[in-house]
Amino acid sequence: MCGITGYIGTEPAGEIVHQGLKNLEYRGYDSAGIALTSDTLSIHKTEGEVDELPVPSRDDVDCGIGHTRWSTHGEPTTENAHPHTDCTGDIAVVHNGIIENYDELKASLRATHVFESETDTEVIPHLIEDHLADDISLRSAVQRTTEQLEGSYAIAVTAAGHDGVVVAREDSPLLLGHSDDATYIGSDATAFIEHTNRVTYLESGDLAKLTADTITIYNDGEPVTRDTETLDWDADAAGKSGYEHYMLKEIHEQPRALRQAISGRVDDLSTSVDLDVDLPAEYLQSVEEIQIIACGTSYHAGLYAADLLEEHADVRTSVEIASEYDFTGGRDPWRTLVVAITQSGETADTLSALREAERAGARTLALTNTLGSTVTREADDTVFIRAGPEIGVAATKTFVSQVATATLLAVYLGQVRNTLSTETASELLSGVRDLPGAVQQILDQENAIKKTAQEYAGSDAFFYIGRRSGYPVALESALKLKEISYDHAEGFPSGELKHGPLALVTPDTPVIALLTAGTAPKKTLNNVKEVKSRGAPVIGVSSNPETTSHVDTTFDVPNCGPMEPVVANVALQLFAYYVADEKDRPIDKPRNLAKSVTVE
Ligand code: AGP
Ligand code: GLU
Repeated sequence: MCGITGYIGTEPAGEIVHQGLKNLEYRGYDSAGIALTSDTLSIHKTEGEVDELPVPSRDDVDCGIGHTRWSTHGEPTTENAHPHTDCTGDIAVVHNGIIENYDELKASLRATHVFESETDTEVIPHLIEDHLADDISLRSAVQRTTEQLEGSYAIAVTAAGHDGVVVAREDSPLLLGHSDDATYIGSDATAFIEHTNRVTYLESGDLAKLTADTITIYNDGEPVTRDTETLDWDADAAGKSGYEHYMLKEIHEQPRALRQAISGRVDDLSTSVDLDVDLPAEYLQSVEEIQIIACGTSYHAGLYAADLLEEHADVRTSVEIASEYDFTGGRDPWRTLVVAITQSGETADTLSALREAERAGARTLALTNTLGSTVTREADDTVFIRAGPEIGVAATKTFVSQVATATLLAVYLGQVRNTLSTETASELLSGVRDLPGAVQQILDQENAIKKTAQEYAGSDAFFYIGRRSGYPVALESALKLKEISYDHAEGFPSGELKHGPLALVTPDTPVIALLTAGTAPKKTLNNVKEVKSRGAPVIGVSSNPETTSHVDTTFDVPNCGPMEPVVANVALQLFAYYVADEKDRPIDKPRNLAKSVTVE
């Protein structure tokens, strides 16, 4: 969690690092801080958002690092804000992750060092201080320090009188940007994308010494080379393009995101899929079980995908919350494919589950949005969902792109395993190809959905019900509403409501029912009647005009067969957005959350 940025170049660093923090604020917004170095070091920090932090006015300084925090150790105060310094005040460190042995390290340092924060991070500058006393380079001091650290970290270190910045990473993400006269540091490329799209992803265990025109990377003390890549997105893709919130912009970007996800992967006749999967066909034919591992929204995409995989690739598929995963149950690792779904590719719970699967000997496949992310390096194979950068903490376009890509994967596996008829493949692929247009038809109803959201915004709680693929959509839509509006919202399988939750249903708890094709809408209508007879207002999300008379309000979904539930989800994203907007919530930065959860 948190965002790290940095700049070493020829321009005043304060402004560039401050802008980098603004770009990264979606990764953490508990506090913000900057360190600028030349012969002296200055620290500028504040609790709260980056806007609270004035742009440092040291125009003569061209080297700096910055941090926006998502607190793990210590409250979100100015004292706990990064950068943290040593006793001399000459060394500054920003850190993303958790130092697991910080208690022990702090105890050993306490006799000779004074600590000013409650963070785990603060041990790092003090350890570096001790090593620098041996008159070694900053790089060597950071190297020795990392050898003492246990846990996950991406760090950037700068020190008065030492040229440039030293960075290191273990598990937490970090990448470098290059332009002709400067080097940039970022937790992700959004940090510096307006300056350059040429990037180098550091690998776990890497340490790098950076100046304006040189980057030297080491691993285990030995120099190593890492590829430089050119990203195919620019500052516009990462900006708000006139929308009030990133979330709204990203909801509207879904037709484009879906086109990108599909582009070049489905043939003109909608009969076959090319996903560029490297796992050998013989292996895929021999797989007896798929386990999907994921968290949050990606877990909901996994639930949606599991049904498709079971039905069309004829393979038993389970979906595991990544933080609860262990590879047990007597399954054969050689016949088990583990699929990690993670838009960021950096979620610690998912990576830890992936490692567990790999230790057990299973093959792994990642479905991710993020080029160069940790999951792409650790999984045996990767399929990108190609949604483009998603900044809003609430995942929207990545969910639909995950579902679309997982559908293509189900068709691909079905064809490789010979379990899918040409007619069904073509029906599914046409459904995927129709998705961008169908989603656009939902976006065209925005004003009506907004009006309904405003009408219900004062409710006590919201219940979402759906069957089959309507159930993951009910879960996902409830998650969206609760995380950005702070209202109580829950998703249930429609038939389960009467087994307990019905006790909560009152005239002040709207029920949102998924009534699209393939979700057994007739059965769900029975459950609609149960809640209506308890006085609850019902919003139906439906492609069938016949259901309209049973509900109070309808969001119309165009007919698009098996993909209807995911299209219905887009209407409920807009609903969640406008309920939260009506309550004036900070939609892109919901309290206590951050975009990428890199701690377990
Ligand atoms: C949902 O809106 C959240 N952003 C969250 O549930 C997210 O899906 C989860 O943290 C997993 O993230 P990932 O896809 O990057 O692994
Ligand atoms: N563990 C550190 C802290 O609580 C870093 C958290 C982060 O990644 O933002 O300050």
